[in-house]
Amino acid sequence: MRTNSRYAVKREIDERPLPSAAESGPLESIRAQDAAPIPVFVPQIGVDTVKHLTDALHVGWLGMGALTKEFEERIAAALGLDGRYAVATNTGTSALHIGLLAAGVGPGHEVITPSFNYAADHQAVLATGAQVVMCDIRDDNLGIDCDKAEELVTPRTKAIIPLHFAGIPCDQEGVYRLARKYNLRVIEDGCHAFGSTIGGAKIGSYGDITCFSFDPVKIITSVDGGAVITGNHQEVETLRHLRLLGVDKDTMFRYQNSRAWDYDVVSQGFRYHLTNISASVGISQIKRLEEFIESRRRICRAYSAAFGEVDGLKPPQTDFSDVSPFIYSLRVLDDRRDALIAHLDRRGIKAGVHFLPVHKHTFFRDARRGDMSVTEKVCPEVLTLPLHSNMKPEWAERVIEGVTGFFR
Ligand SMILES: Cc1ncc(COP(=O)(O)O)c(C=O)c1O
Repeated sequence: MRTNSRYAVKREIDERPLPSAAESGPLESIRAQDAAPIPVFVPQIGVDTVKHLTDALHVGWLGMGALTKEFEERIAAALGLDGRYAVATNTGTSALHIGLLAAGVGPGHEVITPSFNYAADHQAVLATGAQVVMCDIRDDNLGIDCDKAEELVTPRTKAIIPLHFAGIPCDQEGVYRLARKYNLRVIEDGCHAFGSTIGGAKIGSYGDITCFSFDPVKIITSVDGGAVITGNHQEVETLRHLRLLGVDKDTMFRYQNSRAWDYDVVSQGFRYHLTNISASVGISQIKRLEEFIESRRRICRAYSAAFGEVDGLKPPQTDFSDVSPFIYSLRVLDDRRDALIAHLDRRGIKAGVHFLPVHKHTFFRDARRGDMSVTEKVCPEVLTLPLHSNMKPEWAERVIEGVTGFFR
């Protein structure tokens, strides 16, 4: 099987009876051969996930229901939420969309976010009717540059979306200082950072609004899925209406695996809810979050120890102790990134690039933006190496040997 596509990591599952959910190791039948190409992403689908999924199918209530509620409660527990709530959605993009709407973003407003980001954020802003304004990043954590963001603030600026790139916390303090000064809403993009901490507290456990993604390649997946976190009760209600066609009452009933026959439509809304089936996958995964984080940290540290020795490479500037690593993003200096990708590919090691700057995409090229000197410098350098939960040590060694061999 030769593929690097995020959607096409095909695995065989044998026909032996399923062990209990407690047996959470990868299926023996997921035969990853050493000689096979090493994908950038491998979802960690164990027998526990298969068991949760089949149990959910047997319940017979496929749509949003009691498992959606359980997943929300487990998200709240994992993040240590106190007086704050998780509203589950069908994608991270829809979480961003309704998070922005709940924050009051709409036509006539501007929202500042880095160009060094996934276009989901920019599309979510446009979907509210607001305009996106693109900002540069800092060289150290590849997160938003708050000084440059300040230069872009106008009377129309309503909100700011900082990204915690690769799970590495951005200058969150600077973001909230800016927000206080100009009365802006903050919608943190935590899509890469589920489980990352700042000062010992999980991202999303405090602050304004935070959005997460549980898409197929994220640190935990619900196949596709997302969540919005807020501490404002009114906003929780608004978010629940927005994700379910503006229908009042329905959330409460669906949480009990039933449907209200008598309901009202109280606002604009979308079909953005998370189903029981997706939630069952998410529940199986969130139970193993700390194990996934620890195993990924070990690989990241091994990579950084090896690559820190090499002239021409710049590992992420972190020891990963506060990072829930989604990707390992290495900077390859002196215009050698593409040659390294080809070298790795010849050795069956797949690599990715996060990100192509959004201001270079056709649809966004005319969007307002500020100086992009750091983004323009960094984008041709970044290389995403394979990183999986419980990654096979021999695969990590092959990646290290592949990268360091290129520079010898
Ligand atoms: C930074 C960032 N924001 C938002 C998203 C959107 O999440 P989803 O794919 O769940 O819609 C992604 C997805 O990769 C992302 O990387």
